[in-house]
Amino acid sequence: MPTLFEVATTAAACTRCRLAETRTSVVFGTGDEKADLMFIGEGPGAEEDRQGLPFVGRSGQLLDRLIEEELGITRASCYIANVVKCRAPGNRDPLPDEIEACRPYLASQIELVDPRVIVTLGNFSTRWLLQRSEGITALRGQAYPLGRASVVPTFHPAAALRGGGLVTAQMRADLVRAKQLLAASS
Ligand code: URA
Repeated sequence: MPTLFEVATTAAACTRCRLAETRTSVVFGTGDEKADLMFIGEGPGAEEDRQGLPFVGRSGQLLDRLIEEELGITRASCYIANVVKCRAPGNRDPLPDEIEACRPYLASQIELVDPRVIVTLGNFSTRWLLQRSEGITALRGQAYPLGRASVVPTFHPAAALRGGGLVTAQMRADLVRAKQLLAASS
């Protein structure tokens, strides 16, 4: 099996889809490579593309705050990645063939980090991981077993920034669920 560093090195030169033509950086992932808790978002935005790191824009600031307040840890002790590693122009949704082209990278990250709990942020990562077609509103509110891990779907922080208090409260409840599962797994 390759190491995460080797997978990241391969991804850094990736031209498997058209997003390679417009990206500034390949935003592979960040955090503790042995983390028990992994977050999976959709794909990098403008700030992430500039910095080469996931969730460093406004959504990321909210995510950091919720991680600290509900889990009592910092992002450095989690692993954070996205379904697609390159920014889609104008922040459009990633297309099915782009998601498919990027699939091996996230699959390797999950296998190598081997987290106990995976929090999926929004529709794209939740559907990717659970292979379900329902939306996040229907799928959140419970945990799903996936091998030795549990998947906890929640809203994307951008939805909380748009949707306000209720969405944020539901995200908090989902993170409490993740915390309980982490405690039960250790
Ligand atoms: N939104 C995402 O889904 N991922 C990021 O890294 C940033 C914003």
